[in-house]
Amino acid sequence: TYIVKDECVKCKFMDCVEVCPVDCFYEGENMLVIHPDECIDCGVCEPECPVDAIVPDTEDDPDGKWLEINSKYAELWPVITVKKEPPADREAYESETGKFEKYFS
Ligand code: SF4
Ligand code: F3S
Repeated sequence: TYIVKDECVKCKFMDCVEVCPVDCFYEGENMLVIHPDECIDCGVCEPECPVDAIVPDTEDDPDGKWLEINSKYAELWPVITVKKEPPADREAYESETGKFEKYFS
């Protein structure tokens, strides 16, 4: 499966949702996640994200943290299939890391 990581938090470009053939993106207030059981591993969303927030779960997620976050919130949040306006202040957060910890807990 593919997963969405920290780069998406407070950024939410939403270019990804327009290309997913199975509509498996789910929207929270601060980020999107992919439903790991619905993702068919096509990979088309990966190059669409301008901030490289989308990766295969085999990459860059050694302890499974992001897979767990994607699994959990995909069950709680509504599906999103159409791109909306990204947050107006998104640039202020672009270079920050650890955003999930800062803005979710
Ligand atoms: Fe959707 Fe394909 Fe991306 Fe999975 S890899 S989230 S199926 S676009
Ligand atoms: Fe997030 Fe990138 Fe999609 S910033 S909303 S994963 S295009």
